[in-house]
Amino acid sequence: MLREKYPQEIERILAIYPPDQRRSAVMPLLYLAQRESGYVTRQAMEEVAGLIGLEPTQVGSLVGFYTLYHDEPGGTYRIQVCTDLPCALRGAEAFAEDLCRNLGIRLGETTADGSVTVEAVMCLAGCDRAPLFQLQTADGIHYHENQTVQSALELIEHLRRDGGRG
Ligand code: FES
Repeated sequence: MLREKYPQEIERILAIYPPDQRRSAVMPLLYLAQRESGYVTRQAMEEVAGLIGLEPTQVGSLVGFYTLYHDEPGGTYRIQVCTDLPCALRGAEAFAEDLCRNLGIRLGETTADGSVTVEAVMCLAGCDRAPLFQLQTADGIHYHENQTVQSALELIEHLRRDGGRG
C-alpha cells in the first residue's frame, strides 16, 4: 500500500542510501508509514521490511524500541511524559497520574473522545526541567517543560478547541 501510494517518496528515501546500506532507510520509511496511519500497522512493517531486506520482526523491534513510533492506534495528540528516575524525583510520576486522573484515563490509555493519549517514556534529555513531556501531533513533536497538571490541562483544552501544533 505504501509503495502504491508514495512511490516517489519511497524512491527518494531509498536513493539517499548506497544500495548495500538500504537497511538504513528503515527510520524514514517507518516515519512515512506512521504519517499515513498515525501508527505503524503490521502490514506497513512487513512492507517496509520487504523494501529494504529486513525481517518484519526486526522492523517490529525497532518500532517497539523507539517511543516516537507506535504499533497501536492512539489519540490525535500523544503526550509522552518522562517518568525516568531523575524526573520521578521531581514529581513526574505524580504529575502523569494526576493528569491521567483529570482526563479520566490511566497511563497508556486514550481519552474517550479519541483526542489524547498519555504515555510514560524514558529520558527526554530535559531532566532538570521536569515534569516535562513531548507532544506528538500530526505535524511534529513539541516539548513542554516545567509543567503542572493545570498547564497541561490548559494545553489540552487549547488543542481540543483550536487544534494545531501545541
Ligand atoms: S530523566 Fe526525564 S528527561 Fe531525563
